[in-house]
This record gives sequence, structure tokens and C-alpha cells, in this order.
Amino acid sequence: MSIHYRNYSRGLVVALLALGVSMSVAHADDGRDERHGGKDGGENRGKPVQPAQTNVLFQQECSTCHIAYAPGLLPAESWRKIMTGLDKHFGSDASLTDQENNEITTFLVSNASNRWSAPTAPLRITESAWFKSKHDAHEISPAVWKNPQVKSPANCGACHTQAESGSFRERDIKIPR
Ligand code: HEC
Ligand code: HEC
Repeated sequence: MSIHYRNYSRGLVVALLALGVSMSVAHADDGRDERHGGKDGGENRGKPVQPAQTNVLFQQECSTCHIAYAPGLLPAESWRKIMTGLDKHFGSDASLTDQENNEITTFLVSNASNRWSAPTAPLRITESAWFKSKHDAHEISPAVWKNPQVKSPANCGACHTQAESGSFRERDIKIPR
């Protein structure tokens, strides 16, 4: 009797899981990734991307070559990797003192994406599945990426006029022509 009961409940769990998966596929922008850990294969940005309280040192040190990217755009492990490799940072030396590094790492890690369930930790926001699905050829024509005002996908502010303050709302998007 108890065996039957256990089999029954396991079957029910499987059925509920399958139902949950198929429901989320129906609501996804891109169903292909759904079988593997949620939206965009689990590589999903956090919400909010910008914490209510930002960090002065981070704003100062991480905005000299590009905007200070909002911490919710990447998972904690990505920020840890980025912060331990600042001497060789995308062809630049962005080194800090240990004290500065610790303060900024703590800020980034504690405000990192809270929706990232994949075991991945890309060094670039622009390499993540959520970024790619929001910026694919369906959304943005290839000619836009060749515009000298855009230069690089990492140049968020070329299209997101409020990127600096961590806002990527539709109404703040202005694609350069
Ligand atoms: C000396 C210049 C410099 C400083 C300072 C600097 N970076 Fe960068 N960073 C770069 C360059 C160059 C790139 C590559 C940009 C590109 O591909 O267009 C980059 C790219 C990045 C990217 C990846 C962007 C993408 O493609 O998604 C992240 C994340 C990043 N930086 C974080 C930081 C953080 C955090 C700090 C502060 C600790 C920082 N950077 C300070 C030069 C700098
Ligand atoms: C060439 C222009 C362009 C650049 C550069 C760009 N984006 Fe976007 N981004 C867009 C467009 C257009 C959309 C709207 C796509 C849609 O309608 O779903 C978008 C959507 C987004 C969204 C989703 C908004 C939402 O709530 O659905 C986020 C977050 C975002 N971008 C972040 C970034 C970040 C971070 C960078 C830089 C690392 C960046 N973008 C660079 C054009 C750009």
C-alpha cells in the first residue's frame, strides 16, 4: 500500500513539473532555453538591476572607461571573477588597492542578479543569454551595430539614454540613426 502511495505521489510531482515547464514555455520570449533552468536558460538579469543605494567608490572607479554597469546585470560569480582580474581587464589595467577592491566587490556581489540559476559566470553582460535575446536581430537590425555612434554592444548608453542611472526602460531607448 505504502509503495503504491509513493509511486502515485511521485507521478503527481512529475506531472506538475511538466505542467509548470510547459506553462513557462508558453510565456517565454524564446522557448528554446526553457527546459534548462528557467528564463533564458537561467541566465537572467536581476530585478531591480540597480539597487536603491549605490556605492560612491564603485561609481567613481568603474565609470572612467565606460558606464558603471548596474550590479543586477550579472551574477555574483561574474563580479568576483571580474574583480580578481582587473589588472588584465579587457586589454586595460583597471587595478585598485586591496581596500578599494574589497569594498566594490562587496557592493557588486551583494546586489548581483537574484534570478540567475545557470551555473555560468560570463565576464561580459553582452555574452549572457538574457542580453542576447533582448538584442537579437529581431529587435535590432545588424546595421545599427555598425553605426560608429554605437561602437560596441557594451556601449549601453548609445541606445539606453538612462543607462548610467541603471534604467533600461523601453521609453528611455533611442536607437541612433
Ligand atoms: C581603464 C579602463 C577601465 C576601467 C577603469 C574599468 N573598465 Fe570595465 N571595461 C574596460 C574595457 C576597455 C572594456 C571592454 C569594452 C568593450 O568591449 O566595448 C570593459 C568591459 C567591462 C565589462 C563587460 C561589458 C560587456 O561587454 O558586457 C564589465 C562587466 C566591466 N568592464 C566592469 C568593470 C568594473 C566593475 C570596473 C570597476 C572595478 C571597470 N569595469 C573599470 C575598461 C575599463
Ligand atoms: C544598439 C542599441 C542598444 C545597445 C548598445 C544596448 N541596448 Fe539594451 N536594448 C535595446 C533595445 C532596442 C531594447 C528593446 C528590446 C525589446 O523591445 O525587447 C533593449 C532592451 C534592453 C533591456 C530590457 C528592457 C526590458 O525591461 O525589457 C535591458 C535590461 C537592456 N537592454 C540592457 C542593456 C545593457 C546593459 C546594455 C549594455 C551592456 C545594452 N542594453 C546595450 C538597444 C540597445
